[in-house]
Amino acid sequence: MISLAVSPQEILRRSTPFLLRMAGPVRFVGGLLTQTPMQILEREHGVTRRMLTLLERLTAHVEIDAGFPAADVATVLSFFREFVELEHHAKEDLAIYPLALVHGDDRDAELVGRLVAEHDETKQLLHSLTLFWEPDDLLPEEREGFVELARTYVRRLERHMRLEERRLFPYARRMDAEETERVLASFESIDARGTLGLERWCAVAAELEARWAS
Ligand SMILES: [Fe+2]
Ligand SMILES: [Fe+2]
Repeated sequence: MISLAVSPQEILRRSTPFLLRMAGPVRFVGGLLTQTPMQILEREHGVTRRMLTLLERLTAHVEIDAGFPAADVATVLSFFREFVELEHHAKEDLAIYPLALVHGDDRDAELVGRLVAEHDETKQLLHSLTLFWEPDDLLPEEREGFVELARTYVRRLERHMRLEERRLFPYARRMDAEETERVLASFESIDARGTLGLERWCAVAAELEARWAS
């Protein structure tokens, strides 16, 4: 019988400094090495900002009538629909916003109402934006509509994320061990129904950035 010279626990212990360098501060939850909910949300905002920058670059290209980059626009819109709208916003709606309602005051409750309404608003904007998508070039009036809507979507989502980071994420930073475990379990179940994970979307963003360097 083959015996393991090093136990899985030892491998985990030895690899921790490497993981710390790769992912920043981590903590143990339920005996497993994992990212905190806050780190997950911050990384998701990070890749969302990268994709918003790419959408801006694609929009500038469309605006000067240099052709409609249909495949790359489809990829970016898929990211916003499948990752931001269906995964990231679901995590905030189900796991993070309730924390502000439990621990916050009346102003926080109003803020949560506003943020939930903004999730609906950006979802509608994105839906309208996808209606402009064509496999070939756009007509002049379609181009104008696409550019206007894309810029509105970028502005609204950027403003929304800034507001969350300033007013809401502090609650995610202060959650206790029990809340952390519950929130991570919710995050996992939401991730399980998604198409690509965060790492894969980061790789997709890097490919697009290489093609659409400013
Ligand atoms: Fe949000
Ligand atoms: Fe967010």
